[in-house]
Amino acid sequence: MSDKKLIVGNWKMNLTVHEASLYVHTLEKELTTHRNVEVVLAPGMLALPTLALQIDHKKFKLAAQNFYWRDEGAFTGEVSAHQLHGLVKYALVGHSERRHVFHEGDKDIRAKMQAAVRNGITPILCVGETAHERSENETDAVLHDQLIGGLANLTSEEVEAIVIAYEPVWAIGTGNNAAPHDVEAAVASIRRQIEHLYGKKASDLRVIYGGSVSGASAGSYLRTPGVDGLLPGGASLKKEEFTEIIEAAHKAGKGKKA
Ligand code: PGA
Repeated sequence: MSDKKLIVGNWKMNLTVHEASLYVHTLEKELTTHRNVEVVLAPGMLALPTLALQIDHKKFKLAAQNFYWRDEGAFTGEVSAHQLHGLVKYALVGHSERRHVFHEGDKDIRAKMQAAVRNGITPILCVGETAHERSENETDAVLHDQLIGGLANLTSEEVEAIVIAYEPVWAIGTGNNAAPHDVEAAVASIRRQIEHLYGKKASDLRVIYGGSVSGASAGSYLRTPGVDGLLPGGASLKKEEFTEIIEAAHKAGKGKKA
């Protein structure tokens, strides 16, 4: 767990490079930098080089939404973690849209986790159950399988340094956000399972929540025990909402050391 809240805006496949640059330009002017909040932007791949030159790196860090696990070679159309090194601090791995739309399985996810770590990029491993799995009381089992599947190639020290995003599939892009007490239970389960697999120290890693987070709901998650931050998608594309989320993170972290 960290006293510094982590807010990662996942823009998904939105905004041209020009639009991304303009958006960050206005966001940067309006945002107050808080020492107890780390703000990360995950724009489309094409905008990364432009934003890496443009942003004030004290205000924002960058994340990749995806990458391929090999470092280089004959993989037409792919971008590797090795190529992203120096451009991004973080990278999403195993987002539910990658799992469900692009059929990425544990083997891909595991290889990507290792590739990110190998290339000095902090992976944000996304895990979460579907509505059906929740209704069948399978949430803990699904989280268990996704954690084992994604983390198998990493050492305890490496696991301690990564980020896990609890993102229930039914809450993503639906407006149907999870209740904070359900998030608390899922996050506690994630930490328990990590402790069991990798030891107490590793279970102290950062765990964030994502799924229809809004400016209005952000505070309730950020005050939820065990939650170190948020991964908003849609709300991160709206300047006012995103700013509200960052302010909520600042308030939730107040009084704690940054
Ligand atoms: P959402 O997306 O906030 O639009 O639900 C979250 C995510 O996909 O990470």
